[in-house]
Amino acid sequence: MGLEAIQWRQRRLDILDQLVLPITTKYITISSVKEGWDAINKMQVRGAPAIAIVGCLSLATDLNATSFQSKAQLHSSVEDKLTYLVTARPTAVNMQKAADELKNVSAKLLKEGMTLEDMKDRIIKWCEQMLIDDVETNKNIGKFGANAILTNANGKVNILTHCNTGSLATAGYGTALGVIRSLHAMNKLEHVYCTETRPYNQGARLTAYELVHDSLPATLICDSMAGALMKSRSIDAVVVGADRVSRNGDTANKIGTYQLAVLASHHGVSFYICAPTTSIDFNLESGEDIPIEERPPLEMTCIGGTQIAAPGIRCWNPAFDVTPNNLITGIVTEKGVFPPAELVKCQSK
Ligand code: MRU
Repeated sequence: MGLEAIQWRQRRLDILDQLVLPITTKYITISSVKEGWDAINKMQVRGAPAIAIVGCLSLATDLNATSFQSKAQLHSSVEDKLTYLVTARPTAVNMQKAADELKNVSAKLLKEGMTLEDMKDRIIKWCEQMLIDDVETNKNIGKFGANAILTNANGKVNILTHCNTGSLATAGYGTALGVIRSLHAMNKLEHVYCTETRPYNQGARLTAYELVHDSLPATLICDSMAGALMKSRSIDAVVVGADRVSRNGDTANKIGTYQLAVLASHHGVSFYICAPTTSIDFNLESGEDIPIEERPPLEMTCIGGTQIAAPGIRCWNPAFDVTPNNLITGIVTEKGVFPPAELVKCQSK
């Protein structure tokens, strides 16, 4: 049975608390937009697609429990709450895009001749549909990415991935991890290496957990070992996710992605960004305009509540970096694989 990080049953939202994984498996109930915002901000749920889905489902459960006097009041509440949800984390664009789309849906429903209850129901169903669409999207990313990697390979492939892009970061299956799952299902995965992903350790805690859970042939490395790995073992491709891809293909993803792209380029290894089109921000010309979240020093100085850094040291903790388009072989989306220079073509597909 696949991991279910987001549970939605009878309009009740429970999420797997990613702060305590893999030691403790604990679900927490999200009953309001405020609780959704907190869970995203504290990173109890993380990963660009999962942030948007949990944000919208927190709105759905909130609306379900609230009585409104009129459709106009419902619409205004939807707008306010979505605007608030977008502020939980700044780099991933998926929540922003979902908020823009849902505000438009709500504005349209406001004008249509339907009851208040029907309007509320339609908004809730729109949020629910995200769960279904995301898994479908990820399976297509998996298929396109696996085929692209296999085009240049002789036999089984060795893959390196960074951060967590799997079932815990999406509604299921995953983006870059979806590509790895597809390769495994095709019996074409020789081995996958996952980085620890300091400082939050999404790789060691979450990706490693998913790889063990699914019995994939996998090995964990520290972030500092990536160069040695590429030099000493044959790696066919690096596959990573994205939090925001700008129009020219520059990509913001978990801190450490950029250095992997530089290493991949040096070693002649293909470097793929695997992301749904909801992670592409066509309003931004280049990666220079992507806002980069900085997280508290505590995430660097402590692990599991234990201080590991010298007390008093200053810290710099950017959560993401931007990989320039010239280091990217292809951007794998649910619509196909695009070289960065041709990314705009996915808009018309
Ligand atoms: O800080 P996080 O854990 O939310 O960052 C996650 C990443 O950078 C992922 O690679 C990205 O969101 C893609 S998840 C499918």
